[in-house]
Amino acid sequence: MESNILIFGGTGYIGKHMVKASVKLGHPTYVYSRPNSTKSDLLEEFQSLGVNIVRGGLDEHEKIVSLLKEVDVVISALAYPQVLDQLHIIEAINVAGNIKRFLPSDFGCEEDRISVLPPFQAFLDKKKRIRRAIEAAGIPYTYVSANCFGAYFVNYLLRPREKHDDIIVYGNGEAKVVLNFEEDIAMYTIKVATDPRTCNRVVVFRPPSNVVSQLELISIWEKKTGQNFKRVHASEEEILILAKTLPDPENIPVSILHSVFVKGVTMNFELGDNDIEASRLYPDMQFATVEQLLDVFLHDPPKSASAAFA
Ligand SMILES: NC(=O)c1ccc[n+]([C@@H]2O[C@H](COP(=O)([O-])OP(=O)(O)OC[C@H]3O[C@@H](n4cnc5c(N)ncnc54)[C@H](OP(=O)(O)O)[C@@H]3O)[C@@H](O)[C@H]2O)c1
Repeated sequence: MESNILIFGGTGYIGKHMVKASVKLGHPTYVYSRPNSTKSDLLEEFQSLGVNIVRGGLDEHEKIVSLLKEVDVVISALAYPQVLDQLHIIEAINVAGNIKRFLPSDFGCEEDRISVLPPFQAFLDKKKRIRRAIEAAGIPYTYVSANCFGAYFVNYLLRPREKHDDIIVYGNGEAKVVLNFEEDIAMYTIKVATDPRTCNRVVVFRPPSNVVSQLELISIWEKKTGQNFKRVHASEEEILILAKTLPDPENIPVSILHSVFVKGVTMNFELGDNDIEASRLYPDMQFATVEQLLDVFLHDPPKSASAAFA
């Protein structure tokens, strides 16, 4: 069944895939974008796909409330610095009173299940604050723990667009990590946003075929490219020193590397009977596997233009 879906941050790195997935699945789609957004080409492309573009700021309460009255589902894919600005969206959803589902800008590690180095913890604590505000307001929600954006981290770890013969390995390289292709994250996000089974639940995107260690990822890449790379290990101690000494916000990416690639936080908690894992929900859909993700890089490496690791 179709729902009217409004996406905040729809011109962003992950948001643009969500807008396209929403259109593809036949949902009337709305994007709320700042008047001074620099993404005019993308907004024009969205318009040609039939997307309704509404220009405004996050503090324009009345404008947001009247837009909310036209939609059923709200997804926020706002950038990390705007996480707390989502309090404005929550306030407007409360006033509008008709929203059937809100998905806040999570799309990473499962912040209620892990604990990490202080700079990354401060980042996650803001996302947790938004979750608690949604629950306190009684707004129906789905929290998406999408784990690692696959193309984004393949670009960062393997540097497929550059000529080089070494690859940095964070820690011993054996911790398991979940890498999901961005287009799949977007498609599954739209599916779970409108699925009654995922109302007031956390959905973890952890398909078994997308769990890989850094060392395994490098070996697969070597087989595909026919190249051999020298593994240069950045030790946990070195990473911890950087996380302690770098100024804020430069200490955040290094803390994320520690949590995800040294400690393995995307995989180091068990999913129980009460957890929802996305790949089990839709038998007719599949996540691109790590092998398939790397095939994309062999032919036409996508750029990753998102904040922290760009
Ligand atoms: N799991 C992972 O590996 C991973 C990786 C990266 C990010 N993430 C998460 O994914 C979510 C989205 O991140 P992203 O990197 O996709 O976001 P992004 O591309 O940096 O930004 C998304 C959109 O936010 C809007 N925006 C930017 N500055 C703003 C401001 N000052 N006020 C209001 N709106 C503003 C812009 O839309 P307009 O120009 O149209 O207004 C922008 O296109 C975040 O929660 C982030 O933490 C996860």
